[in-house]
Amino acid sequence: MSDKELRVSKIKDGTVIDHIRGGYALDVVNILGITGKEKRVMTIAINVSSKRLGVKDIVKIEGKALSMQEVNRIALVAPHASINIIHNYIVNEKFEVKLPKTIEGIIKCNNPNCVSNSGEPVVPKFYVKQHEPLLLKCYYCGITLEQLDVMGQL
Ligand code: CTP
Ligand code: ZN
Repeated sequence: MSDKELRVSKIKDGTVIDHIRGGYALDVVNILGITGKEKRVMTIAINVSSKRLGVKDIVKIEGKALSMQEVNRIALVAPHASINIIHNYIVNEKFEVKLPKTIEGIIKCNNPNCVSNSGEPVVPKFYVKQHEPLLLKCYYCGITLEQLDVMGQL
C-alpha cells in the first residue's frame, strides 16, 4: 500500500456489504433505516476502485446483523452485493444477495385500480423481469415498475 492510499479499517463484529454498484451505498443505508444517529460505528465508501466492478461502494456496520427481509431489500438496489458477516475480525460467512423470481409484500403496485390497492386482503406481488436496471411486473394487473419507482418506496 503506497502513502497515497487510505485503507478503511476492518471491523470487529458486524456486517460488511461489499460490491455494491458504485453510487448506491446511500440507498442501501436508507433501506436499512440507518440514519447515523445510532451509536454505531459505520463506514461508507463510495466509488472506490474495484477489480471486478470498476468502481464499487462498501458499507461496513459494526454490531449489526441483517434479517432476511433486509437482505432481500438490499437486492432490489444492489443486485450483486455480497454480504460478509464478521465475528472477531474474521469473515465467518459470505454470500451474495439474490433477487427472488417473485417479490411479495415489500413493494406496492403503482396502479390505483390494481386489486392489490383495493382494500381487499391481497398481498402485492411482482415478477422480477429484469435485474439491472430493475424491472418488476405486477402479478395482478401487469403494470411494470422500474428501478426509480421501487427506490421511491424503499
Ligand atoms: N472486512 C472488514 N473487517 C473484517 C474482515 C473483512 O471490514 N474484520 C471487509 C473487507 O474489507 C472486505 C470484505 O469485508 O471489504 C470481505 O472481506 P474478505 O473476504 O477478506 O475480502 P475479499 O477476499 O477481497 O472478498 P471478496 O472475495 O468478496 O471480494
Ligand atoms: Zn398491480
